[in-house]
Amino acid sequence: MIAQNLFWILWTGLIGLVVGSEKRPNIVFILADDYGFHDIGYHGSEFRTPNLDKLADEGVKLENYYVQPICSPTRSQLMTGRYQIHTGLQHSIIWPSQPYGLPLQYPTLANLLRDGGYTTHALGKWHLGLYKKEYTPLHRGFDTFYGYWEGGEDYYTYYNCDTFHNRTIEEEEIPSQKEGPWCGFDLRDMETPVTNMNGTYSTHLYTGKAVDIVKNASNSEKPFFLYLAYQAVHTPMEVPQKYMDPYSHIKNEYRRIYAGMVSAMDEGVGNVTKALKDSGIWNDTIVIFSTDNGGQVFGGGNNWPLRGNKRTLWEGGVRGIGFVSSPRLKQKGAVSKKLMHVSDWFPTVADMAGVKVKEDLGLDGFSQWSMLRSGKSSPRKEILHNIDIWEPLQGKMLYNDTFDTRVRAAIRVGDYKLITGNPGDGKWYPVPTTVDGLTPPLPAEISESAKNVWLFNVVKDPYESIDLSGIMPSQVRSMLDRLKAYNATAVPPMYPQSDPKCDPKLHGGFWGPWE
Ligand SMILES: *[C@@H]1O[C@H](CO)[C@@H](O)[C@H](O)[C@H]1NC(C)=O
Ligand SMILES: *[C@@H]1O[C@H](CO)[C@@H](O)[C@H](O)[C@H]1NC(C)=O
Ligand SMILES: *[C@@H]1O[C@H](CO)[C@@H](O)[C@H](O)[C@H]1NC(C)=O
Ligand SMILES: *[C@@H]1O[C@H](CO)[C@@H](O)[C@H](O)[C@H]1NC(C)=O
Ligand SMILES: *[C@@H]1O[C@H](CO)[C@@H](O)[C@H](O)[C@H]1NC(C)=O
Ligand SMILES: *[C@@H]1O[C@H](CO)[C@@H](O)[C@H](O)[C@H]1NC(C)=O
Ligand SMILES: *[C@@H]1O[C@H](CO)[C@@H](O)[C@H](O)[C@H]1NC(C)=O
Repeated sequence: MIAQNLFWILWTGLIGLVVGSEKRPNIVFILADDYGFHDIGYHGSEFRTPNLDKLADEGVKLENYYVQPICSPTRSQLMTGRYQIHTGLQHSIIWPSQPYGLPLQYPTLANLLRDGGYTTHALGKWHLGLYKKEYTPLHRGFDTFYGYWEGGEDYYTYYNCDTFHNRTIEEEEIPSQKEGPWCGFDLRDMETPVTNMNGTYSTHLYTGKAVDIVKNASNSEKPFFLYLAYQAVHTPMEVPQKYMDPYSHIKNEYRRIYAGMVSAMDEGVGNVTKALKDSGIWNDTIVIFSTDNGGQVFGGGNNWPLRGNKRTLWEGGVRGIGFVSSPRLKQKGAVSKKLMHVSDWFPTVADMAGVKVKEDLGLDGFSQWSMLRSGKSSPRKEILHNIDIWEPLQGKMLYNDTFDTRVRAAIRVGDYKLITGNPGDGKWYPVPTTVDGLTPPLPAEISESAKNVWLFNVVKDPYESIDLSGIMPSQVRSMLDRLKAYNATAVPPMYPQSDPKCDPKLHGGFWGPWE
């Protein structure tokens, strides 16, 4: 604790303000949950997303943009600018009954902005730890919070059961209904349990709170940071009927409900945008929109034409929807093919806000502000997608003097992507309607369970259909050496057993700190 405090004092001493001529912008970061790559109007979806499309059309669409394949890791990288090999969150998500969270020594984006003079608000999903109150949003740089601390729940009742309880790492790969003995509510206003919202759909609840914050903040001199982390469009499959009505032609029930969930979220984004405009602060605001990971195919999502699903290291798991919209951008209506990663938001938003990170904090992210604002080149040449030493090993080791190819990992260097170990389900899921006449190429190796090395040129072949590992051994070798070098910098992953003290019955029926 002493070491952490020392680090903290040093860190807070390291920032300083850049005083520019422009008013510092408000920053609204909207994070969707499990939103599939295909499922936005401008990617050719059959869903109608007019508000998202309009915002993106007026801004910069990110078409070479990467996130993590699951929730907590993406949120950890967004909040700290660090790969999860450097925070210990390499393996899976934080389940409600597990006693851990995003380590406290790393300042969050909210800490940075608050120290730089912003008011900071978080709405919706947190999912970066709840077992001690120090891990929850008001202790991680946010002035206000309204939402839930764990990873998922019912959209109307705000009730959830832990599904992790003593599952083994092997069992984790199997979609499971195995519930732990612990169930409870999870909705808080600041830190106080909320009990009077039963029946209100969460997309409406968080949108309404966001609109209130925008209206209120427009009277303030201070700029604000609003982190709007929607529950939508994660499972469970729930939406008010009226949002599904336009999609009665969709036969698959999950897909139909999910379409409605997307429409409700799109309406919410429209409401927040309208509030910004009506309040006269649109010119001084930057809106960022991102998914947290690829779509969950079994929950109605679709990542077409990309291969794979949420949880996998295929492009369908990690390549995300993302855009930035603001009158402050010099390039409007641009489509950027420049490489960007979710860990880049921390330094990028710092630059947007004129909050300078003076010393090297050891970030893995790069500032992309000049790329976004003016179309300059991306400073990023590589992405470490992940190294997960706790995933069961697959196949045989290819070389004995570099990275062990049995280990689940993936890395992007330039146009190439190398995958090792067991990357997860690599199927293409049928597209609901045709997209530009594309048909998925079918891979030969899909059933080879011992295979553990793949190399793709994902710029020429975003479908990951042509494995180049056999014909480019020296490229494979040099990328394995990069993985080895990253692995040498990794901290051990954290993934503790459930703690029975988490039981919400012991805490007034709510999920919350038990230590
Ligand atoms: C869960 O696992 C822990 C550690 O293996 C064990 O001590 C505990 O008894 C288990 N709990 C239940 C309910 O099985
Ligand atoms: C929430 O509302 C549902 C449906 O009206 C009801 O079944 C449930 O008991 C309510 N839950 C609470 C905690 O009031
Ligand atoms: C958006 O605003 C309209 C008008 O106030 C409201 O009827 C609708 O429910 C809002 N939508 C969401 C998702 O909050
Ligand atoms: C509006 O701002 C004031 C002053 O900053 C604060 O006290 C109040 O709680 C805010 N209201 C809402 C709805 O956010
Ligand atoms: C926003 O900027 C535009 C273009 O510079 C200007 O025409 C408009 O009046 C500004 N709106 C407000 C509310 O300041
Ligand atoms: C590593 O592989 C090389 C060639 O494949 C072999 O000659 C060597 O004995 C191996 N070293 C170890 C430590 O297994
Ligand atoms: C990664 O680093 C850890 C810790 O140094 C080491 O035990 C492990 O063998 C390395 N794994 C690979 C695949 O290089």
